Amino acid sequence: MNKTIIVSNRLPLQVSINDDELEVTPSVGGLATGLKTVHKDGNGIWIGWSGLTSEELNPELEAKVNDAVTKEQCVAVNLTQKDLDLYYYGFSNRALWPLFHYFIEYTEYNTESWEVYRSVNQKFADKVLEHAVDGDKVWVQDYQLLLVPAMVKAKKPNISIGFFNHIPFPSYEIFRTFPKRKELLEGMLGADLIGFHTYDYERHFLSSVKRILSLEVNFNKVTYNNRIIKVDSFPMGIDYEKFEQAALDHDKMNEDEKSEIQKRLDQHLQKEDGVKMILSIDRMDYTKGIPNRIKAFEYFLKKYPQFQEKIRLIMLAVPSRSQVPQYQKLKQETDELVGRINGEFSTVSWTPIWYFYRALPFQNLIDLYTSSDVALITPVRDGMNLVAKEYIATRTREDGVLILSEMTGASKELNEALLINPFNNEEIADSIKQALEMPKPEQQQRMQALQKRVSRYSVKKWANEFMNSLNQVHKVYQIIEAKKVENSDIDTFKAKIKSKEKKLLFLDYDGTLVNFTKQPENAKPDQELYAILEKLNAIDSLKIVIISGRDKKTLNEWFGHTPYTLVSDHGVSMRLENEDWKMIERLKTDWMEDVLPVLETFVDRTPGTLIEKKKYSLAWHYRNTDLELAQKRLVEIRTVLTSFISNTDLTLLEGNKVLEIKSSKVNKGRAASNLADHFPAEHIFAIGDDWTDEFMFEELPEKAHTIKVGVRKTKAKYYVNSVENVRSLLKTLAE
Ligand code: ADP
Ligand code: G6P
Repeated sequence: MNKTIIVSNRLPLQVSINDDELEVTPSVGGLATGLKTVHKDGNGIWIGWSGLTSEELNPELEAKVNDAVTKEQCVAVNLTQKDLDLYYYGFSNRALWPLFHYFIEYTEYNTESWEVYRSVNQKFADKVLEHAVDGDKVWVQDYQLLLVPAMVKAKKPNISIGFFNHIPFPSYEIFRTFPKRKELLEGMLGADLIGFHTYDYERHFLSSVKRILSLEVNFNKVTYNNRIIKVDSFPMGIDYEKFEQAALDHDKMNEDEKSEIQKRLDQHLQKEDGVKMILSIDRMDYTKGIPNRIKAFEYFLKKYPQFQEKIRLIMLAVPSRSQVPQYQKLKQETDELVGRINGEFSTVSWTPIWYFYRALPFQNLIDLYTSSDVALITPVRDGMNLVAKEYIATRTREDGVLILSEMTGASKELNEALLINPFNNEEIADSIKQALEMPKPEQQQRMQALQKRVSRYSVKKWANEFMNSLNQVHKVYQIIEAKKVENSDIDTFKAKIKSKEKKLLFLDYDGTLVNFTKQPENAKPDQELYAILEKLNAIDSLKIVIISGRDKKTLNEWFGHTPYTLVSDHGVSMRLENEDWKMIERLKTDWMEDVLPVLETFVDRTPGTLIEKKKYSLAWHYRNTDLELAQKRLVEIRTVLTSFISNTDLTLLEGNKVLEIKSSKVNKGRAASNLADHFPAEHIFAIGDDWTDEFMFEELPEKAHTIKVGVRKTKAKYYVNSVENVRSLLKTLAE
């Protein structure tokens, strides 16, 4: 039975040693808590770090750790102390975490931690490769493992790989500052499906892919290394029922079943009428906006003193990554701020902030969620924020108000919360007041809407949608794929090429026989190409046709001396061996003087683009420009030109990073099928890479062996990956 392999830095459980005994505790953080349910449901395995380093383990302990994790359907990856320092604390949390959360000034890059990040990613990939068999699905999680998808894909290309980024993906302007930007993107693109929490992160990622790797992106599909990669957004949810049920059970508790924390909370709440509690829960992380929140709360107490002694902020912060200096500074700053404010406002019977710096058991989280009238969640940047959703799920009486930062991924779905800008104290203070004074009916109205949404899009649904989409990506990929040319096909082709019967071989030029270059005039044929063609041409009764979008002059310069049939301008003119060029179609060119100035205005406004003036067509090349800008311009250009060419026989043809305006009477399909009629051949072969070659694939007789260069939607029957593959195929045929 096929299985799903989840891969994440941390396993959903953490192992530690206490008095020589192993202690197993659940991991905190959105990722571990979120995926736990999914993993338990299936027959899959979860690969990750156990929480202990190799140095802490002897063989006996290691066996115990393995036992403990195996019981939970997990597989441990062993990390050394150095790995932990440089991969986890170093590259992941001192470079990537701040970079992706827009804290460029905290981002520290050094080569050593990069090298270790790479080698640890390889360790994870190797573990995956050890356990994965064809048909399995691998689902890699988060920024600690950005290189794993490509590492797995390189060794096992037939396994479907998904990658989910649980943190924001920053805008291109931020991402581009990072020295290893290219390597990170290439690592992620090893996946077949890449998921983000929000459309904004998806958009930022695609923009970086376009601009940094110059890859072709169509809507949300990236073509890379002859694969199509889908990028999509899947907002992660929570195990709604678990939180809801826990809250319902909590309601039914009698006095002796209550926790110490609950008793203290009750004491405060029962003190007098109008007493309320505001809750915040996060990992102690500078992205969570903890100092902002405390300062805004202080401002609130000053601006609205009537709430003093009535309300209390309960702030729960879980220790996190405490070996990273920025986290230590934050802890210190938080301690000082809480101390100062409590010092300033406390009275004999009241302290404004109750501050806990520790992880709490699930039951206590429920105590806090269910007892708090307001949740105040103010990250300055947060991929999703599950705490906001958990608060909603526990409000079984449909009351309570959520104040939520608009910088969280969750804010995109939770519109009925009071959304705030975490940098605006005034707004936060006013929202706290609004929340505390909000009439019950309004609270209920908002809460019902929030609950409806959060319960519908649960973590299970999130994972299912992701996995379904991963299945689809693979299917689509197979549907559009022509058959890859394999050795057995080459043998068949060769037998036909070497037969006594007549043969026709149509070859497109750019992107088929030679690779694209920055300037079209630089893509001249090289000696190797001439030699291959010459050898092919020596085969009896084989006619070579070079059929190109290039103009007569260029083809003449490059192939005039050869006996091959040349077809220029996508089929406008033709030259047979020992003959002069002839026009296949009579064409007018007077339209050019009207269209040229229009194209020129686009060139002026789109640096890096250029116009190629051919005898019968005009081409706008945008290979060397910012592809995002080019795509915008393409839409504009199409709109302008479409109205320009209506009622003419002109048409717009989109090639590989080029838009061409030409007569609709001409295309390679017409030219190729004319030739096939004039030179009846038993065997026909046609190779091309481009949109324009599709006409040829379509219009040649059914028996033709049509071959596309590159993996794209095509009418061709076969495909090869690259120009290099075309050359080696031709070489083999000529042998
Ligand atoms: P992040 O993933 O950045 O830590 P999230 O809000 O998405 O932030 O997820 C935090 C997860 O950790 C939630 O599921 C929450 O219940 C859990 N959690 C937060 N604080 C504690 C705590 N003190 N003790 C136990 N679990 C906690
Ligand atoms: C965030 C990250 C997770 C990480 C969690 C806890 O949710 O997206 O990948 O596991 O924080 O952080 P930690 O460094 O303790 O694993």
